[in-house]
Parts: sequence; C-alpha cells; structure tokens
Amino acid sequence: MISAKLLEGAHTLKPLHAFVISCSFLIMVLFHGSVVANNTIQQHSANSVTDPHSFANLQDVRTKHLSLDLTVDFTRKQLSGYAEHQLEWLNPNATRFIVDTRALVIEKVQGQALDGNWVDIKYVLGITDAIKGQPLTMQLTSKIKTIRIFYHTTADATGLQWLSTVQTTEKKHPFLFSQSQAIHARSWIPLQDTPAIRITYQANIRTPKELLAVMSADNSQNMQRDGDYQFSMPQKVPAYLIAIAVGDLHFKEMSKQTGIYAEKAWLDKAVYEFADTQKMIDVASKLYGEYHWGRYDLLILPSSFPFGGMENPRLSFITPTVITGDRSLVSLIAHELAHSWSGNLITNSSWNDLWINEGFTNFVENRLMREVYGNERADMEANLSYHELVRDMSGLAAKDTALKVDLLGRDPDDAFSLVPYVKGQLFLSWLESKFGKAHFDDFMAAYFSKHQFQSMDTSLFLQFLNDELVGKYPDVVTSQQISQWIDMPGIPADAVISQSDAFAKVEAQLKLWLEQEQPLRRLNTSKWSVHEWLHFINMLPRDLSLAHLSELDEVFMLSSSKNAEIFVAWARITIPRNYPPIFTPLRRFLLEVGRTKFVVPLYKELKANPEKSGWATAIYRDARAGYHPLTQSAIEKVLF
Ligand code: BES
Ligand code: ZN
Repeated sequence: MISAKLLEGAHTLKPLHAFVISCSFLIMVLFHGSVVANNTIQQHSANSVTDPHSFANLQDVRTKHLSLDLTVDFTRKQLSGYAEHQLEWLNPNATRFIVDTRALVIEKVQGQALDGNWVDIKYVLGITDAIKGQPLTMQLTSKIKTIRIFYHTTADATGLQWLSTVQTTEKKHPFLFSQSQAIHARSWIPLQDTPAIRITYQANIRTPKELLAVMSADNSQNMQRDGDYQFSMPQKVPAYLIAIAVGDLHFKEMSKQTGIYAEKAWLDKAVYEFADTQKMIDVASKLYGEYHWGRYDLLILPSSFPFGGMENPRLSFITPTVITGDRSLVSLIAHELAHSWSGNLITNSSWNDLWINEGFTNFVENRLMREVYGNERADMEANLSYHELVRDMSGLAAKDTALKVDLLGRDPDDAFSLVPYVKGQLFLSWLESKFGKAHFDDFMAAYFSKHQFQSMDTSLFLQFLNDELVGKYPDVVTSQQISQWIDMPGIPADAVISQSDAFAKVEAQLKLWLEQEQPLRRLNTSKWSVHEWLHFINMLPRDLSLAHLSELDEVFMLSSSKNAEIFVAWARITIPRNYPPIFTPLRRFLLEVGRTKFVVPLYKELKANPEKSGWATAIYRDARAGYHPLTQSAIEKVLF
C-alpha cells in the first residue's frame, strides 16, 4: 500500500506536476484496480446531486461541520493550518472523501480513529482542471468521522486578496479579504465547494496582534484586539458564504442589531450613509418572515473590492464606492440584506440556477427600497436596471439570455451577466402583476418559510409556483408563458417595465437643450437625485460634439463627480469621443477603484477606441497589482 508518507516523499524527488499525475494514476489503480480518469469517477458518482463545478462525492459523504485553525501570515501572503471536517457518511461502504481545492499545498491528512487517536490518511491531489481546480481524494472508511487536512494557501489563491499597506485607506497596515462566491472558497479552504450542501463552521484565526479578524459568523467573541480570534457560525451555510477579512478594523454600532466594521477613515461616514439598515431589516422581516441570522453588520472594504457587495451572512462585505455622503446608492445594502432571505436562506443548488439567488434578491431589494424610500425612487432604480440589462444583453449570446442555463464546462465567473439579476427580477414582477400584490406577497413569504436552509433549483421552484399560485388560480398564466421566461432567450414582450415620471421629466429637460430651446444653465436640474442624473447622462446622444461635452462639464462638473456611478456613466460617454478632460480623472479612478462592474466597462470603452487602447494597456500595467485576481482576469479578457 502507498502511504501518505511515501507520497510526500515523492514530492521531493519529482517536479510537482509529474508528482500529481503519477500519484493520481497510482491511487486510481489502487482504488479501482483499473485506470479511470478522475472525471469519470466524478460523473459516475454524482447521481442525485449534480453540481458541474464540484468534484465532491456528496452521495457518499458530506461535511456537517467545519473547524478552521489558521494563521494569517502577511509576509508570506499565506494562510496556513488545518481544516477539520466532521463527516456524515451516507454510504457506509464508501471508501473515499473527495473535496475541492485550487492552488492549495496539502501537507498531510489525519483522521480520528474510534479510539480517539489521530492516524495518517492516504490522499492524492488529482490533475488540475482549469475551471474546477484539483480534487483532493482521501482514502478512508466510514469509521472515521473526523479528519484534519493540514495545508497552506499559495499566491494563486483566487479567493483571497492580500493588500499591502499602501493599498488600504489608512495606509498603515496590510489588509486581507476573501471572496468565495462562486467557486473560490476552495482556493483557501479544502472543502466540498458546492452550494448543494450546507455546513456549520467555527474558526480559530491568528493574525498580527495589531489587526482585527472578522468572519461571516458570530464576531462578538473578540472583544480584545490581541491577534487571536474565535468565530462560530451556528446556522448552516453553503461554502461560498464562508468569508474572512483581516485589517486595521474598527467597529461602530448603528442600531442594536446593526453596525459597521471599517478602517477608521470610513467609520463615521459609513455609519451616516447606512443608517437606514435597521429599517430595511424590519421591513424585510415583516414581508418575508423572521431574519434568521442574529446580527447584521457591514464591513467596508478597501476600494479594490471586486464587487459592489457580497452577502456574507451576518456581515455583508461592501465597496466604499457607495459611500457618497447622500445615501444615494444604499440600494446595494437593500440588495445584500435581501440575500439574507433569497440566497442565504434559500440557496441556488448549483451555479446554473444563479437567478434563484440574484433574481429574487433584485426583486426583494426593489421591494424594500419601495417600502423605505417610496415609489418614485424604486421606479427609477428598477428602470435604470432594466436599461442596464438591455445594454448588457446586447453583448451576450442568445442562449445566455435565458434564465435557465447549463454551465457544464464553463467557468461561472465567465458566464456572469445581469440576466439572472434583472430578467429574474422582471419574471417575478410579471408574476406579481398577474396574481396581484397581495397573493404574490403571500407566495413569497410561504416560499421563504417552506424552503429555509435548503437548496433550490429551477424545476423545484416551478413546482412550488405551480402548487401555490398557478394551480390555485387557473387561467392567470400559461405554462407556455412561464417557459418563455425560463427557457427562451430575450425579454418577453409583456414584461412589466417600471416607468418613471421623474425620468420623463428629465428627458423633457434634455430635449429642451438638444433642440436649443433652453441653455443648459436654465434647465430645471436643481432637485435632481443621483438617479435622475444617471438617466440624464445615459440619455445623451452618443455623437455629441466636444463643445457640447465641454458645456455639460462646465455647467454640471461631471468629470469631477465624486459619485462613482455618475463618473463612470459620464466616462462611458466621453471616452469614445476622445474628450480630453476625462482622461486625468479616469486614470486616477482606474488606479484607485477595483470594482469590476466599473472598471471592466471602462477598459472596454478604451480598448474600442483605437487612439486610447495603448493608453489603457499602460494604465493597466500600473493598476494591475492593486486589482483583485478576479478583476485582473476579467480585464485581461478585454485587453489582450
Ligand atoms: N452575490 C453577489 C456578488 C457575486 C455574484 C459574486 C456572483 C460572485 C458571483 C452580490 O450580492 C451582488 O449581486 N453584488 C452586486 C450588487 C448589485 C447588483 C446591487 C454588485 O457587486 O454589483
Ligand atoms: Zn446579489
């Protein structure tokens, strides 16, 4: 028999790649007596639960509880320690436990025998799959209920960003944060990285003494800043919701249940900006049932954070680009909070069903905005996102505009678009319009209470829809109509698009200027909200002269807007026109902000402009080190 020790010995003799291939070969012979490709094993076994993005043999064995014991080393940019898995064996005859990994170095695996002693477990890291990473296959029997995988992360961890001191806001201490969705948890924890199952977790985290660690868990045990932190997450969560951040963080309460973690410079600003968070929780709980997670805090990340927000339970991760001083972009908080129901309570069973997470969340987000800030604002926001969807869809293959997609063989990051978000939202709004708000509210509340802490896929949802609405109120919608939303490309003709009276007024003002009936200064803009400004900019003709662009800038100071949404919308108009004054602030923006939603479209506009494509590559060279690995690869797809 080949022991783990022997396998480790081979490590020192051969290059890593050869080691991995030869060992997986040996182990496969060992397990099966014949050579079978890793993929074949995987496809065989994944009968009841199929996740195209995981190697896990879920029908045999599942992790119930995970305990992490990790040291955060900023010098090496490395997490090291062990992940302890409490196993639940579904198949008592199974002999393997397979977890997902990516770019991890596995040091050893130990299992706890019935007598309590730890014994070495044989294991092998399989061949690297470009999308899924490497399966870590451990040979053990169902007698073993606890295993420890000792490992450390590498520079290729796609789920971690290590920031040097200068990349933080305060520029005094380094910063680390994770971003596990969709399949990056495996790059910092060896685990069954699939949203099909849920686990509880706890963690011991050691950091430099002067820094604070936070996780998507109970953070309250760490009153003392001493570099030694304990966390527990008593609610079951899918792997992509495990999150960590370490930095010079401070805390301030907003309400009994809510507060802000941030670097000092953001703390008070964020407390002001997000003061309505408690109201949002109260409204959501009334509509959709109890908030199940205890506290709801927000963590403000450095500006390289690749997303607007990430719904890590109990602690949403938030970009500082929504802190504008006027609370104009707080729909992001409504969005991440909404995930406490749609996504975190009911989770897409695989990334094929992302619309189950994001479409419901966009719908709930808009509903919360409506309750807290009124119809006018909610209509404007829904209308803006509809227009963003249309713009996004114009660059997508038809099959990628259906709600139901098959991502087998595709990276979920590459397939990301606004379709699951906004088309998903439009589908639910359409159902609401057909069945009436009262019935639909009841339906949503029942949905959240009946499936809480479970996974959901499209067909299960359609079944529930049929049981609770379509079947109860016949002749309201046909199955053909529903299938058009789910299976067909594009947006059905009878979609309910929010119209905004405020936007109609904006368009009327713009027309006055374009038809030279009013000079810019005389337009009635003094009461416009950020949303009205965004609509105004989006409605500008694409062929405005440089003189007109200058005039707009002089009167409205768009190139120096501190609101990132406005700045980006304006830059997207002015880049194709080679409008000179945009390029200095644009350079600053690209060097400072790493939010993918902003920087990718900007690089796209630059690349499409023959006079600026070299300039874009030069800026990227300077900015690259400050971007998250996910953002880097998204930009590189555009530029190279
Ligand atoms: N969960 C998402 C972010 C995400 C989705 C990360 C898929 C990785 C894979 C988060 O809730 C989100 O949707 N963020 C948006 C917010 C916006 C639509 C309000 C963002 O980051 O812009
Ligand atoms: Zn979301």
